[in-house]
Amino acid sequence: MPEMEKTVVLAYSGGLDTSVAIRWLKDTYGYQVVALSLDLGETTDAATLRTKALAIGAKAVVIEDAKAEFAAEFLKPALWANALYQKEYPLATALARPLIAKHLVATARQYGAQAVAHGCTGKGNDQVRFDVAVASLAPDLAVVAPVREWAWTRAQEIAYAEVHGIPVPATLENPYSVDANLWGRSVEGGVLEDPWVEPPAACYAWTTGPDDWPEAAEEITISFAAGVPVQLNGQTMTLHALIAAVGELAGRHGVGRLDLLEDRLVGIKSREVYEAPAAVTLIAAHRAAEALTLPKDLLQHKAGIEDVLAQAVYNGLWYSPLTRALLAYLEETQKSVEAEVRLRLHAGQATVIGRRSDCSLYRSDLATYGEGDAFDATAAVGFIKIWGLPMKAVATAHGR
Ligand code: ARG
Repeated sequence: MPEMEKTVVLAYSGGLDTSVAIRWLKDTYGYQVVALSLDLGETTDAATLRTKALAIGAKAVVIEDAKAEFAAEFLKPALWANALYQKEYPLATALARPLIAKHLVATARQYGAQAVAHGCTGKGNDQVRFDVAVASLAPDLAVVAPVREWAWTRAQEIAYAEVHGIPVPATLENPYSVDANLWGRSVEGGVLEDPWVEPPAACYAWTTGPDDWPEAAEEITISFAAGVPVQLNGQTMTLHALIAAVGELAGRHGVGRLDLLEDRLVGIKSREVYEAPAAVTLIAAHRAAEALTLPKDLLQHKAGIEDVLAQAVYNGLWYSPLTRALLAYLEETQKSVEAEVRLRLHAGQATVIGRRSDCSLYRSDLATYGEGDAFDATAAVGFIKIWGLPMKAVATAHGR
């Protein structure tokens, strides 16, 4: 009688780490391995992925298109929050992890698995996000992190691959660790580990550099309904298609290149390069839509909430009561964010050049310096008198 079969569902990318992990999970733990790959907007060849995983020894391969779900459940609220970690990183990788974890858990249930696995190292944020998301959704499932456990050098890993006939991709020449999805592309490692060294052209794939910026600017219009971008240049699109299309246009003009020195949750400072043309453009447009349609006090209060959400996402707390509460708040704020925003894409920048809305709070009769002024300037005198009263008290009592 064979022992009871143990099954693990592995988040599989097709790269060296997770390919080697298929074999290692079988040999080290005796697991049957189900390889799971999600299409989140990065171009991958499903047939090749499947063949490769099966050849290495996976019992089954599951490939799912999760672009629409990623856009609707993760990118939409991130945009509502104009979410930027440390004011700059649009969180592409961080937002994808909880979605992958959710699919790992669902697939584990489907296959009656006892564990899930991911290919993260022991030094990054991604391990935290996977482990905590799985713990939040399925506290009974074990999480195995082969790369974190084996702690091999690159050479040892390649040696293991060669011994076991696991194809080592030619792209290994590429010294960078890359993760990409609809919202952006993250690049780490190699020469980027020296924060003084300028990122080489080879680490960019989605954006042009100054030498290749088109001379002519391109103007685009984005229409928002309840804070969600629903049209590009007047054409209605699904959110994930719109994000891809904006990314394409903005990337051509070099928008969204970021070279950051970032603080990881695990206490390490690291140098990170990002390309996020769609995220940077859409956040600029969304902010402009909000500035026109939301009152001042809400905008100010929301800014604090935005930062709390960005940190929760970065720190792997997507499935927390905190995040749920933040998402409810954000949704409430977006009800009147109905606007069209014009932007100019040029020379690495997405610049807002116009905005209009039926829900606009801008009143030209109040703002104008010209004809038709409805602002009661005589009322300003009394307002300022009372507003400045505390300052007068301080000046009188303290002499300054
Ligand atoms: N520093 C970013 C983050 O924590 C990007 C991580 C990129 N991951 C990778 N495997 N290259 O979200």
